[in-house]
Amino acid sequence: MVAERTTSQILFDNGTHRCIRFSSLVHGEGVQANQFLIIDQNRAAVIDPGGDLTYMPLTMELNKYTRLENLDYVMASHQDPDIITSMPRWLVYTSAKVVASKLWARFLPHLSSNFMSDRMKGNWLDRLIELPDAGQVIPLGQSTIIAVPGHFLHSVGNFQFYDPVAKILFSGDMGASMVEDAALPIDNFTHHIANMKGFHQRYMCSNRVVRLWVNMVRQMDIEMLVPQHGAAFIGKEQVEQFLDWIENLACGIDLMDESNFSYPVK
Ligand SMILES: [Fe+2]
Ligand SMILES: [Fe+2]
Repeated sequence: MVAERTTSQILFDNGTHRCIRFSSLVHGEGVQANQFLIIDQNRAAVIDPGGDLTYMPLTMELNKYTRLENLDYVMASHQDPDIITSMPRWLVYTSAKVVASKLWARFLPHLSSNFMSDRMKGNWLDRLIELPDAGQVIPLGQSTIIAVPGHFLHSVGNFQFYDPVAKILFSGDMGASMVEDAALPIDNFTHHIANMKGFHQRYMCSNRVVRLWVNMVRQMDIEMLVPQHGAAFIGKEQVEQFLDWIENLACGIDLMDESNFSYPVK
């Protein structure tokens, strides 16, 4: 992985296919988040672009790698504010289609306003690719991006995006960590657990669904697992370490009992 400049890291580049991560575009109170750009043969897709905080800096960064006219898709792993709140701007200022779970697609127009309906290019429904629960293969340039099920990890309708050329799984909130500098590699997985544990225990739905996901992911050829917050898992060994850890983690409803549902007295 080459640190080209402070805000972006090239995760993969074979001359015609590139994957780029932007890791420090969120300023202020917002939680650190990574945004991603995949380019194949000059056609581009953005994954989890974020909200208004990131729209301007992200488009400035994108312009260093491609032109906004080349943007075919804005892909959203789920519906959270740090994922897709900027959707109206992408619809108005680019011709990209929005790719999202069918469970969330019809909620997304609530993000918009007259701003969007008056100015966007084309009909809203023509600009929407609603992913079925089973996922979908999405063409990009001469390549594809695979929307892989990640339901309940953490959102009820959740997808991760797999790039079969780069062998990178863009895993959304799965694998997320709170670290000082998300661009730095993880040198010690055991120490890194402290940066992930509390988040996964609360946000991921249950160990049962984690195991279903891990079983699917183990059948995939993954060189890098790159979450939407924090550091990336680089190389098969580190990906395996993460899978081994998460498949044994009790989380979400596994940890809930009566004490979490006591009527508040003050
Ligand atoms: Fe989220
Ligand atoms: Fe997130």
